[in-house]
Amino acid sequence: MIKYIGSKRTLVGDLVRLLGAFPEFKSAIDLFSGTSRVGHALKGAGFQVFSNDYNAYAHSLATCYVQADLEEVESNARRLLTELNGLPGKPGYFTETFCIRSRFFQPHNGERVDAIREEIERKSLDPVLKHVVLVSLMEAADRVDSTCGLQMAYVKKWAKRSYNDIALRFPKVLPRVKHGPCRAVQMDARAAARELVADIAYLDPPYNQHSYLGNYHIWESLILWDKPEVYGVACKRIDVRERKSDFNSKPRHTAAFRETFRALDCPLIVVSFNNEGYQTREEMESLLSERGPVFVVSRDFKRYVGAQIGIYNPSGDRVGDVTHLRNKEFIYLVPTERGVQIPGLVDKLHEITRGTSHVPAPTLFEHDRVENVSTSNGLIRDTDELRQRILNLLAVEGPSSVSQIQEALDLSGYHVRLHLGALAADGVVLKSSYGKTTQYEVAAKRSTEAAHNGASQEARRSDQSADDDRARSVAELIIAKPGLRAEQIRHALALASADCSEVLKQLLATGQLTKTGQRRGTQYWPNVPMKATDEDPPHEPKPATDVEQLSIEF
Ligand SMILES: C[S@@+](CC[C@H](N)C(=O)[O-])C[C@H]1O[C@@H](n2cnc3c(N)ncnc32)[C@H](O)[C@@H]1O
Repeated sequence: MIKYIGSKRTLVGDLVRLLGAFPEFKSAIDLFSGTSRVGHALKGAGFQVFSNDYNAYAHSLATCYVQADLEEVESNARRLLTELNGLPGKPGYFTETFCIRSRFFQPHNGERVDAIREEIERKSLDPVLKHVVLVSLMEAADRVDSTCGLQMAYVKKWAKRSYNDIALRFPKVLPRVKHGPCRAVQMDARAAARELVADIAYLDPPYNQHSYLGNYHIWESLILWDKPEVYGVACKRIDVRERKSDFNSKPRHTAAFRETFRALDCPLIVVSFNNEGYQTREEMESLLSERGPVFVVSRDFKRYVGAQIGIYNPSGDRVGDVTHLRNKEFIYLVPTERGVQIPGLVDKLHEITRGTSHVPAPTLFEHDRVENVSTSNGLIRDTDELRQRILNLLAVEGPSSVSQIQEALDLSGYHVRLHLGALAADGVVLKSSYGKTTQYEVAAKRSTEAAHNGASQEARRSDQSADDDRARSVAELIIAKPGLRAEQIRHALALASADCSEVLKQLLATGQLTKTGQRRGTQYWPNVPMKATDEDPPHEPKPATDVEQLSIEF
């Protein structure tokens, strides 16, 4: 696989083991696929995978590693690669641009790239086969480049590997999976999130200003073979200046992420997050908690090679300083509105959290933290309710510190900061410093309204309305999934056992539910005429995955 910043090389084994712990899930979307390591490993674990990335080189990688099936392409690809490996070099656009005007590759290799790429273009190949061969060429060139892994600069003295001769190898294409064809698409993540549907969505967006197109412009030109005009010392494609991603823009990143996240129709959303990005951990968790309880695995990482050794410009001067060598990476798991209704799913995440699950994944994170960071049940209702309670308190009490709010509302400091952060980001709350204390108050435009509602609403928020909410959720759940047992209802809605039995009693007494069976086997049914449903039959469980077989050597 190519050298790639933000690639999940070290994380992919653990991630796939973790997801393999949910045998009810058969399909997964890799929404920002990059090298396609994650999609490749998920396909290797038996998932039907849909990969998306907005860059052409990443789409090529995804077509090769996710969409192509070994049975279909292997013999033709191997024959072609042997033929292409025998071609003599012939200088052209690639040699001129990346070996003479810049020094990313030695000319003897540039000439071979030119000859091979022209020949691939000349043959009218089946598109999937063409991507497999192009990936082989991209990876062969990557093995003999003279960079630190980014194409914004090349190293001053030729890298040792650049003296080697370029050689095409057959990429590790995987056999087809039984759950259906895997697909690679090339769209903006927001559009892909609206289009693609699967059991799991994995999101690994860019988290800072560094554009992937700018950092991998040579691969984009090699794949598109449009021989574009270039600019600057690194000979970047001219369209690097226009083809920007909102995920690389500080003012637009969060809105783009939110739109993507909200559009996804998947029971489980998994998000990779890095503490060096635009969003703080609190902001991310607050956003994620809109769709369900939030679970997180966190781990320490070595930073990418440029950060380890510094970055140098073409004259050999250091242009980037090393600030720190490690950063923290988080994997968030969010069972969504559909996910919390799958019996046992939230339960399993709690077990993983507590380390009592038979799932092997947590043992692999032995030095890492696995925890549930959501509010009481993490559903949007609770997030809204908590934020409203904080606003009401501020309206009544005036400027207050985190510890005052914490004490008054009996919340953890972490959760108070989490919600204050979100309220401040929405401009509803203002942060100010009084001496050494930081205090929060309702922003002027909201204060009149909040003050009006504040005291009385807080007082009026009775147990009755919480009971009503719970009863409505339980009734809706049982209509959607008739025949659930109390334990399943409790877990699906993250209810306390006493609350759950109270609500069930109430719904039985008011004739909204009926029950069959006794004690632990008691099942609850809606007391309304049932509509015929064209819902899919329940997922067939996948055979348990042998996790050891999942580690894939790249
Ligand atoms: C952190 S990298 C993903 C790395 C990947 N998980 C891997 O292991 O190789 C982020 C990816 O998002 C892609 N990207 C950036 N903006 C995008 C957008 N608006 N829509 C879709 N993909 C985008 C980039 O091309 C890049 O490959």
